[in-house]
Amino acid sequence: MKIQNLALVGALCASTPIVLCSQTITVSNVVQLGNSVGQFVSGASGLDGPKMDPEINSTSFDWWYFDAVSENNSCAVVIVFYMTTDLGFPFVLPLSTLSVDIFATFEDGTLVFLPLNNPPLSAGTATVVTDGDGSSGVWEGTGFEWKGAPDLSQYVVTIDSPLLGISGTLVLNSVAPAHYPCGPNQAGQNLEVSPHVGWANAVPDANAVADFTILGRKLQFTGPGYHDKNWGDQPFTENVASWYWGHGRLGPYSIVWFDVLALNGSEYISSYAAVNGSIITASCSGIKVRPTGTNSQYPPVITSGNPQGFHIDLDLGSEGILEVNVTSNLAIADAILYTRWSGSMSGGVKGGIVYTGVALYEEFKFQV
Ligand SMILES: *[C@@H]1O[C@H](CO)[C@@H](O)[C@H](O)[C@H]1NC(C)=O
Ligand SMILES: *[C@@H]1O[C@H](CO)[C@@H](O)[C@H](O)[C@H]1NC(C)=O
Ligand SMILES: *[C@@H]1O[C@H](CO)[C@@H](O)[C@H](O)[C@H]1NC(C)=O
Ligand SMILES: *[C@@H]1O[C@H](CO)[C@@H](O)[C@H](O)[C@H]1NC(C)=O
Ligand SMILES: *[C@@H]1O[C@H](CO)[C@@H](O)[C@H](O)[C@H]1NC(C)=O
Repeated sequence: MKIQNLALVGALCASTPIVLCSQTITVSNVVQLGNSVGQFVSGASGLDGPKMDPEINSTSFDWWYFDAVSENNSCAVVIVFYMTTDLGFPFVLPLSTLSVDIFATFEDGTLVFLPLNNPPLSAGTATVVTDGDGSSGVWEGTGFEWKGAPDLSQYVVTIDSPLLGISGTLVLNSVAPAHYPCGPNQAGQNLEVSPHVGWANAVPDANAVADFTILGRKLQFTGPGYHDKNWGDQPFTENVASWYWGHGRLGPYSIVWFDVLALNGSEYISSYAAVNGSIITASCSGIKVRPTGTNSQYPPVITSGNPQGFHIDLDLGSEGILEVNVTSNLAIADAILYTRWSGSMSGGVKGGIVYTGVALYEEFKFQV
């Protein structure tokens, strides 16, 4: 389980057939003692592979996140595969290092949130295969798995969980190139979106097809989809005071935003925009995200209510500044310290065409 050698293997893979790059790790549902070391500089491949070695000790985390939102805002699905205890990341079920969850939002706005631990003290292992830049994972005993293409062009998340009453698939066909916090998918990139928090965005935007049956109800829609992963070598809440993240499709633009406040007040940002399958910007500069409307206090604290939306200024370089208003449609997860929304976007480059679109986005706030 020497995943720290990924950079080395990556270098080898660049000149050899992709199949030789395939690496498998199997993680038991047990907390590792001692150090769990994070990878914070990219290799030549393995963008979506495991990033903690070993996976995981009681205060580190590594997760894979997938979502999709329907064009008309009403339906959404979010699926997360976790390797973390609730000390590493406070929003998972206790007593497990391996877990999954699904958030489903139906046409009528009904929300379903279903978390599931891998069976404790059993054969509840997780397996992640890294092939090229893509990965595939199986959380044994949950019925949740994903399969990614080595070139990141497609991901399929499959759920078959009689226990939760869920079956179906989320298919993501990528329309925008992968990136890291400060640049494109290349070797030697910084992977920290803020201190001690890693981020790799395998699929910034996708044509998604969701086709699920959840507790006897159909959830079927198409719309923008997304996949990324985060990891860290310290508890999440020791490094994040608040954060705004989101993604969406605004006219021809696929955009992703990140604006994080560390506990000491330093702000860390990452901006991404692509058009027609090419990156316009992928940078850890050139973006500002702020809450708008009611409850637009910045920085937010735990008692701040949910803002009505966000305003984003995203520097496209020679094309100008993309100015975007994000207006919340529905809170699709709300736990006070954490809120996730679906919403609409309106914006464009000043003086140019005003585009509209849909977005899925979130806020963490841990400060009193
Ligand atoms: C987990 O590993 C990190 C090193 O990456 C270390 O700083 C931390 O203290 C470890 N946690 C525990 C509980 O040993
Ligand atoms: C929204 O999209 C879903 C899925 O495509 C569709 O079933 C539904 O009819 C749409 N609703 C409206 C109000 O357009
Ligand atoms: C916050 O801590 C980081 C190191 O993690 C340091 O680079 C930064 O300068 C600090 N910011 C302030 C405002 O002290
Ligand atoms: C995207 O591609 C289409 C078809 O090739 C082209 O018409 C359009 O101008 C392109 N859009 C941008 C913003 O480059
Ligand atoms: C964004 O919101 C501001 C403040 O309400 C408004 O002045 C501006 O016209 C809006 N821009 C777009 C493109 O909707």
